[in-house]
Amino acid sequence: MSLNITFRQLRVFESVARHSSFTRAAEELHLTQPAVSMQIKQLEENLGIALFEHLKKKIYLTEAGNEFYHTSRTISRQLQDTEEYLKDLKGVRQGHLNILVASTANYFATNLLATFIQRHPEITFSLDVTNRQHLLESLSANEPDLVIMGQPPEQLDAVAEAFMENPLVVVVGKSHPLYRKRTPITPKQLQQERFVLREQGSGTRTALERFFERRKLTLDAPIEFGSNETIKQAVQAGLGLALVSAHTIRLELDAKVLRILEVEDLPIRRQWHLVYRKGKRLSPVAESFRQFVLDEGSTLSINS
Ligand code: PGA
Repeated sequence: MSLNITFRQLRVFESVARHSSFTRAAEELHLTQPAVSMQIKQLEENLGIALFEHLKKKIYLTEAGNEFYHTSRTISRQLQDTEEYLKDLKGVRQGHLNILVASTANYFATNLLATFIQRHPEITFSLDVTNRQHLLESLSANEPDLVIMGQPPEQLDAVAEAFMENPLVVVVGKSHPLYRKRTPITPKQLQQERFVLREQGSGTRTALERFFERRKLTLDAPIEFGSNETIKQAVQAGLGLALVSAHTIRLELDAKVLRILEVEDLPIRRQWHLVYRKGKRLSPVAESFRQFVLDEGSTLSINS
């Protein structure tokens, strides 16, 4: 079968699918709504299958539409990569950098970007912060230029380059009886304590669960919060203990509102990684950010 589809159709389709709306796609692309409908109609005719279904005035992707959506996002992203690359070949130095970082990496990633941008003021960038689960989905769709995350993906064919230690420690708040404990406790003793956990999908949470599982220990009635900031507040309020990245608690340690609890076998020693899909052709801007992070990332982050 030879497909006779155009980039314009792909762009229109991608926008309609993203907004679930012909009207909003028309606005985004500065087209009229009939022009958008026409592009979609031609695309569906070319493919010989419906991509959208209309139910009660709403539109939904069909199964074929869903499949085609993944493909069109990959193609758009690759086109953008190539455009960046060609710009550099033509001697254009500016470019766009699209970085995605794990929530916890945000404690140093903004600082890294700030230094990088100071050196390359002509570069524009976007930085998105999200949890591990969403990072993996974006990586799999090859959306970001580079991802900064803890544990590299196991299922995905990706390149992961470690650039800095990420020690995970247990913290305790001032009002907790263990705040004054000066001798190490055993992992088993942790079992008697209540833990405050990050949301499902968080890399830090998974690390804690594995730490317990490996020792055949159980987490007793943990409480769950969706961000490191709330976790720290909860620990300070005496709600329980938490496992956090040492990068997130510098200010609280200085202010002596949190302490690192000494526990045998802790900290969990992990690394921060720069990750991208295997075979991805990094744009010159992304390549230069990669080099910068590998060369200077750990020094800049620790001093931040
Ligand atoms: P987070 O951490 O998902 O808990 O923010 C990142 C990681 O450790 O992978």
